[in-house]
Amino acid sequence: MAGKPKVFVTRRIPAHGLDQITQQCDAEVWGEPLPPSYDLLKRKVADCDGLVSLLTDRIDPSLLDVAPRLKVVSNYAVGFNNIDVDAATQRGIAVGNTPGVLTEATADMAFCLLIAAARRVVEGCQYAQAGQWKTWEPLGHLGQDLIGRTLGVVGMGRIGYAMARRCHRGWDMQVLYHDTFRNEKAELDLDARQVDLDTLLRESDFVSVHTDLNDMTRGLFNRAQFRKMKPTAVFVNTARGPIVNEADLVEALKVGTIFAAGLDVTDPEPPAPDSPLLKLPNLVVAPHIASATVGTRNAMADICARNLLAGLSGQKLPGWVNPEVEPKRRK
Ligand code: DGY
Repeated sequence: MAGKPKVFVTRRIPAHGLDQITQQCDAEVWGEPLPPSYDLLKRKVADCDGLVSLLTDRIDPSLLDVAPRLKVVSNYAVGFNNIDVDAATQRGIAVGNTPGVLTEATADMAFCLLIAAARRVVEGCQYAQAGQWKTWEPLGHLGQDLIGRTLGVVGMGRIGYAMARRCHRGWDMQVLYHDTFRNEKAELDLDARQVDLDTLLRESDFVSVHTDLNDMTRGLFNRAQFRKMKPTAVFVNTARGPIVNEADLVEALKVGTIFAAGLDVTDPEPPAPDSPLLKLPNLVVAPHIASATVGTRNAMADICARNLLAGLSGQKLPGWVNPEVEPKRRK
């Protein structure tokens, strides 16, 4: 490659990664607070060797087709459902993500939503701010206990395990999990028990979602599933919004099918300003901030930059989503 490789970065990321990219590449960085439109991204990527994308950028076959030089797409996220990975692989393009570095921050957020929803923290705070707090109320603001209860983890990968570890070791919870794979480490370390989804929903006091978004999990949580849960149950999703049928969740929360929920992800993001998701007292909604700590975002930026640079020079990516692309990779 003559001169520095040309790359487009779809948003400012922390200097930990961005500096490596701007020093070693001819980089254009999109500096606006909102993402570039799909059409603009298509124009920007057309003569690029590398792309740094975010989960808000759709990377599909038609975009990849206008970028004949593209060698690598480095996603600034562990999730990569915004990228058509098969299409990238077919075209010889390496795809990178940021596994591992956001596990603990995301599990912290899942636990934070769990305890906030179970103990009605946000509702109580709004009550105080609205001047409604007149006295100590023996029957007011009653929530759910956490100690010794049962946690159901849907998707026992790295983040599911970290959430289960917090609940088991810190709050003495029994752990059930549902996954297509067995997680022997979770069984050994945390006494976790692998069960079918119905058993998990029936027996868990808290259900926390940590699975990928894929064809099997899209819309997985719907009215029928909420009806299998306990009326005292708290539902938490820090994975991806489309795993949940939100209209069904809203109904379940309104009629008391379940007690409360906490979401860090919605579909779409953000929800419309008049969405019922933003109006329910027993639903805590955070703006997709599970990985939003200084240390975690710095670490994500570093691995994202290293993925990009490795992909540009034909090396192995530290976080490589499609290593099977190797024989086809663009030189
Ligand atoms: C991810 O990395 O997939 C999160 O959703 C954002 O950090």
